[in-house]
Amino acid sequence: MLPTQSGGSGAFAHFDLGRVPSPCYVVDKQKIRSNLEVLQNIANQSGAKVLLALKAFSMWSLAKLVSDYLDGCCASGLWEAKLARQKGFIRDEKLQVLSTFSPAFRSEELEEICSLSDHLIFNHPFAEGIKDARKSGVSVGLRINPEISLGLDPKYDPCSENSRLGYPMSKVSDDMLSLFDGLHIHTLCEQNFSPLLETWTKIEKSIGKSLHSFEWINLGGGHHCTRADYDRDGLIGLISEIAQKYDCQVYLEPGEAVALDGGILVGTVLDIMDTEKTCPARFKCHLPCTRCDRGSLPTRSSGRI
Ligand SMILES: Cc1ncc(COP(=O)(O)O)c(C=O)c1O
Repeated sequence: MLPTQSGGSGAFAHFDLGRVPSPCYVVDKQKIRSNLEVLQNIANQSGAKVLLALKAFSMWSLAKLVSDYLDGCCASGLWEAKLARQKGFIRDEKLQVLSTFSPAFRSEELEEICSLSDHLIFNHPFAEGIKDARKSGVSVGLRINPEISLGLDPKYDPCSENSRLGYPMSKVSDDMLSLFDGLHIHTLCEQNFSPLLETWTKIEKSIGKSLHSFEWINLGGGHHCTRADYDRDGLIGLISEIAQKYDCQVYLEPGEAVALDGGILVGTVLDIMDTEKTCPARFKCHLPCTRCDRGSLPTRSSGRI
């Protein structure tokens, strides 16, 4: 089981759970704001654009707050792309960016996704739809799998054997990469800076020559950069170096770092089943459950459920 990397219960330590209905999410707006300030600071000091990964945090009642601090959103398909545009996560069409990645796109949805997105990231260099996407004017990227497993838990490791997330870096060629405007990686989960550095060092060694051809490089999510012990200076240094060396715009798309230690899910125990692997509370999430290996995850950060 992945131990929680959260900083603890924070403002919720003395929260009276009886004050709220059950189930419900309770969010500490001040904590979200202070996380956003940290992320904005990273952006300002490094030149990176920081996008919120909606799959991790999409509470649209806070869309305006998020949009006041960040440079846009990353979506994992049509519905998140619509959410970003319609619920106010993106308010400045000129400055903010909507980047959409999906392991595969449905042909009947592609046109609408292209019309909503600024960046469209494909998982395969010969995926159907790339030509149409280019014609639409969207900036087209490729997600690669750098094939370096540094995750804390194999369940969340997009570099694990037989992963379908990202085209294996050992199979890409310079010609293949030259067809894309941008490069995308996403390999981390709740991690500090050094695994990113190690991953980037491998990428440079392997496809360094091609990196000069990209307009943008997206370093994905999984950076726990709002955690107190995160090496933010290291991250800022690396981003500045990449941007300068390859003359490109660097993007980060954290999700959890935006909401880290910023909320709890309140639930009620209705029944107890006498088995070792039963979830006490479940909510919709893209991650597998750390307790029972089924469906969703009780908590990634608060540890209180
Ligand atoms: C492609 C992509 N980008 C960004 C994220 C956000 O990751 P996190 O919430 O761990 O920062 C995820 C989450 O799995 C992802 O799959």
